[in-house]
Formats: sequence, structure tokens, C-alpha cells
Amino acid sequence: MSEEQVTEELVSSEMGMKEYWNEAYLIEKKNFSDYGDVGEIWFGEDSGLRIVRWLCSSALVKKDDRIIDLGCGNGMLLVEMAREGFINLTGVDYSQNAIDLAESIMKKQNVTIGYEVCNFLSLDGSAMSREYAIVLDKGTYDAVSLHPHDSKGKREKYILNVWKLLKPQGLFVITSCNWTEKELISHFGAQFCLFDVIPSPTFKFGDKTGNLFTSLVLLKK
Ligand SMILES: C[S@@+](CC[C@H](N)C(=O)[O-])C[C@H]1O[C@@H](n2cnc3c(N)ncnc32)[C@H](O)[C@@H]1O
Repeated sequence: MSEEQVTEELVSSEMGMKEYWNEAYLIEKKNFSDYGDVGEIWFGEDSGLRIVRWLCSSALVKKDDRIIDLGCGNGMLLVEMAREGFINLTGVDYSQNAIDLAESIMKKQNVTIGYEVCNFLSLDGSAMSREYAIVLDKGTYDAVSLHPHDSKGKREKYILNVWKLLKPQGLFVITSCNWTEKELISHFGAQFCLFDVIPSPTFKFGDKTGNLFTSLVLLKK
């Protein structure tokens, strides 16, 4: 895709549905209990480490900041953060199996993270009644964007809910493989401004280059 093209909506997929994720994490739960395999790390382990490195090096971020990971899956991003000394970590996911897996991994890793089953689009659950200094998303806005019914409405609800969850001047760190930097800025730009771009690996195809995924730090306006 050329730099100038902007996608309106994605072609829907089963990855937009809760049933898909619940099935996927059921298998991963079994793999973890049978073999100790934590399962899929979206966009690769390096993507999470890049985010953690950025957070550790930012003067705006404190180790006791209240931080939430939306659609945390197996929770490995939060585990990496706990290892770096972050002490106020919450993970939410609408898949009960994902939260079961994340809790089992947390116990084995001997770190402390608060987990809760919650559909972020309906803001249910007690984790949704608090304000956060930092909201993380690695692949969840992508999943929401793939929903077969009213994906645009769901994306807009998602953006509004992230805004509500953040304290004034809070940071939203989003990593996406489906949307470019330009597209993310056009979606989030009314409520957030671009604060930084976390470098991500590039690829070359013919005379075109691109990023394997986009990782942005957005500041709540
Ligand atoms: C691509 S996976 C990414 C998982 C994890 N963030 C990672 O990096 O490995 C997308 C995750 O978003 C969760 N998810 C999608 N829509 C959600 C919603 N409305 N509320 C809560 N979780 C949701 C899915 O269950 C899944 O765990």
C-alpha cells in the first residue's frame, strides 16, 4: 500500500469475535498446563520489549503509575513490565480463558498483576471504574476493527472509552498491524495528539518499504 492510501474499514474476520479468542485461549491454556508454553505473543516478543523499553526510558512514566493493558491475552506484556519494577498493573480481556491463562502465567512467574474479565466496549467490571496514567493496547484495537457488525461504531466506542479511562495528560500506547501511523492518527486525532513513535521493524518489497507493525504513544488532549 502506498503512503497516501487510507483504508476506511478492514475486511471483517472471525478475529473480531469473542468466540474466536475464547477458543484460541482454551487451547493455549491446555498447552500452558501441559508444556508450560505461554502461547502466541502478538507481533513477536520484541514488540513488547520495545514498549517496555520506551516506558522505562520516559521521564513522564513512574514505576507506580496505574497502568492497564486492554485485551491483555496471556498477559506477557504485563509480566515484562512487572519484571522491570512496575507495581500497579491491571490486565483486562473479555475472554475468560485468556484471563485464566494470564493468571496461571503470573503465578508461575511470581509477579503481581490484577486481572479481570471485562468487555472494554461496554466498560463493565471494576477495573473500568478507575482512572489510569497509561493505557496499553497490543493488537486489541485491531481485533475490534475486524468485528463483522458495525466495526466503525465499535472503533469509535473503543476510542471514547480509552479517552474516558485515562487521567488528564495520560498516555495511550497502541500497537497495530492493521492500521498505519497515518490511519491511527486520523482515528484518534480528535481526542489525542501524537507524542512519540516507538520504532518497529521494517520490510522492503520491491521499491516499497513499510513497517511490520505500528507502535504509537498518544497523549490525551
Ligand atoms: C490480537 S490479541 C492480542 C493479545 C495481547 N494484547 C497480546 O499482545 O498478546 C487481541 C486480544 O483482544 C481481546 N479483545 C478483543 N476485543 C475485546 C473487548 N471488546 N474487550 C476486551 N478484550 C477484547 C481478545 O480476547 C484478545 O486477547
